[in-house]
Amino acid sequence: MTSPISTLSLVDTDPAKLAVDAVVIGTHSQDDGDDGRAALRLASGAESIAAAFDGRLTETLALLGATGAPGEVVKLATLGTIRAPLLAAVGLGPQPDGAALDGETLRRAAGSAIRALAGSATVAVALPLPDDALAPALRAVAEGALLGSYRFVGYKTKPQPHRRDPVASVLVRVPDARDTTAQAEVARATVVARAVARTRDWVNTAPNHLRPPAFADAIAAAAREVGLGVEVLDDEALEADGYGGILAVGRGSAAPPRLVTLSYQPPDGAGNGKRVALVGKGITFDTGGVSIKPAQGMWEMKSDMAGAAAVAATMLAIAQLKPAVTVTAYLPLAENMPSGTAYRPGDVVTMFNGKRVEVLNTDAEGRMILADAIARACADGCDYLLETSTLTGGQMVALGKRVAGVMGSEELRERVRAAGEAVGEPAWPMPLPEDVRKGMESDVADISQVNSGMDRAGHMLQGGIFLSEFVTEGVAWAHIDIAGPAYHSGEPTGYWTKGGTGVPVRTLIHLIDDIAANG
Ligand code: BES
Ligand code: MN
Ligand code: ZN
Repeated sequence: MTSPISTLSLVDTDPAKLAVDAVVIGTHSQDDGDDGRAALRLASGAESIAAAFDGRLTETLALLGATGAPGEVVKLATLGTIRAPLLAAVGLGPQPDGAALDGETLRRAAGSAIRALAGSATVAVALPLPDDALAPALRAVAEGALLGSYRFVGYKTKPQPHRRDPVASVLVRVPDARDTTAQAEVARATVVARAVARTRDWVNTAPNHLRPPAFADAIAAAAREVGLGVEVLDDEALEADGYGGILAVGRGSAAPPRLVTLSYQPPDGAGNGKRVALVGKGITFDTGGVSIKPAQGMWEMKSDMAGAAAVAATMLAIAQLKPAVTVTAYLPLAENMPSGTAYRPGDVVTMFNGKRVEVLNTDAEGRMILADAIARACADGCDYLLETSTLTGGQMVALGKRVAGVMGSEELRERVRAAGEAVGEPAWPMPLPEDVRKGMESDVADISQVNSGMDRAGHMLQGGIFLSEFVTEGVAWAHIDIAGPAYHSGEPTGYWTKGGTGVPVRTLIHLIDDIAANG
C-alpha cells in the first residue's frame, strides 16, 4: 500500500494564462508602514497576476486578511481576471534584503499552499525563484509541494464525501522549462519526495498490519524492484549467527524478528571507494515489554520503526539517484511485547560482537537491536556509519519535537548537522561524556543497557554511549535520535502532514551525495 503524491512538472508560460484549477503566488510582510502596521507586498513571480487584477491585488488580499506571515494561505476566486478560477497567496514573511529567501521558508510555503488547495486537481506555483540561484530554490519548492500533497490512504471502508482530494498535478513556473538543471531538480525532488512518502506510509501503517515478517517482506519487495541487493535473516538465521540483542527483544512476540540488509553498488567504475553503512531502528511496536509503558499515548509507538522506514526508503531513492559510493543498509526489525517468552530485567545477553549486556529495563529495546546491527555493519566493513532511531524520550526533553539529537565522531556529527540544516531537518550535536559512561558500568556484565542506578540524567546520551560500544575503532559514525521529529502528532503544518514525517530521509540522501562528492 502506497499513498499517491502529486506529479510535478515545469512551465515557463505566463501563470495568468494557464488553464489550471488554481495558481499560487507569494506574499511578504513588511513592518515599515509609517502607522506602525504591517504592509503586504507581493513576492516576485506574481507580476502578471497583479497586472491582470489592474493593480488592485495587494489591496484585495489585505482586505481578505492577508499579512504575508509564514504559513498563511489566503484564497480568492479570480472571477475571470486570470484563466485559473482560484488564486492562493501564501505568506513568505519579510523579504530578506538582497539575500535569497531561505529554502525552508519556500519549502514550507509550497507545502502549506498545496495542502490548502486540496480539491483542486492541477495547480500552478509561481513563487519567487531567483535566476542566480534557481536550483536550490526550485528544489525547495518542488519538495515542499510534493510533500504537502501527501495524504495517507488509511483504512476507511466508506468514501468520504466531504473530503477534498489532494492536488494531483503541480506545475512550477520557471524562466525556462527546458533548462536541464531545472529538469534534473524536478526528477530528483520526485524521487526524494516518494522516499519520504514511503517512510510516512510505513510509519502510519497500523502496527498489526506491519509486524516484523510483514515489514521485512515489504522492504525486500520494494528493494528488489529497484535492483538493490537484499538479504533477510529470519529468527533461525539470527540464532545461528549470534544476534543476541535482536533475538532477546524479538522473543516476546509471536511475530519473530528479522534483520534485513540492502546493498547498493555504484555503476561500474563510478564509485569513489568509500563505503557507507546505514542502520535504522525497526521496532514495529514498542509496548516497553515487561517494563511496560503506560497506556496513555502508547499507540504512537507504532512509529518506533521510523528509523528503519527512513533508511529503507533512503535506499530506494539511492538506487535511483545512483551516487558514487557503496551504501549498505542494516534494518533490525522486532516487536517489543511482554509475554511468557519475553526477555526480562536482569537478563544478561551476549551480543553479535560477543560483548555481554546486562538488561535493566526492557523498554530500552532499541539499543539492543541496534547494537547487533551496528556490530554487523562494522564486521562487514564500512568507512562511515549513520544510524537513526526513535531511541529516547530524553531527546524530546532536551531538544523538542522538531530538532533531532546527533552524537558520534566529531567530523561526521558536524556533517549531519550541516546536512540537516541544508534540507530543513535540524539536528543538534550532543556529547558522549565520560561520567555518563561510568554510570553504565555493570556489576556482572561488560556494560549495563542504561544507567545502573536507573538515573535518567543524560538520558539521550546514555543511548549514544551504549551504541558507541559496538562501533569499531576508526569508523566515522553518527547516531541520530529522532524520537521527536519522526512523528508529528499536531495539526498539519507546512509540508508536514499528521503522523510520520519522513525525517531524516532528506538528511541521509544529502549526506550520501556529499560523501559521494567529497569523500
Ligand atoms: N521508543 C522509545 C523512545 C520514544 C519515546 C520514542 C517517545 C518516541 C516517543 C524507546 O524505546 C524507549 O522506550 N526509551 C526509553 C528508554 C529508557 C527505558 C531507558 C525512554 O525514553 O524512556
Ligand atoms: Mn522502548
Ligand atoms: Zn522503542
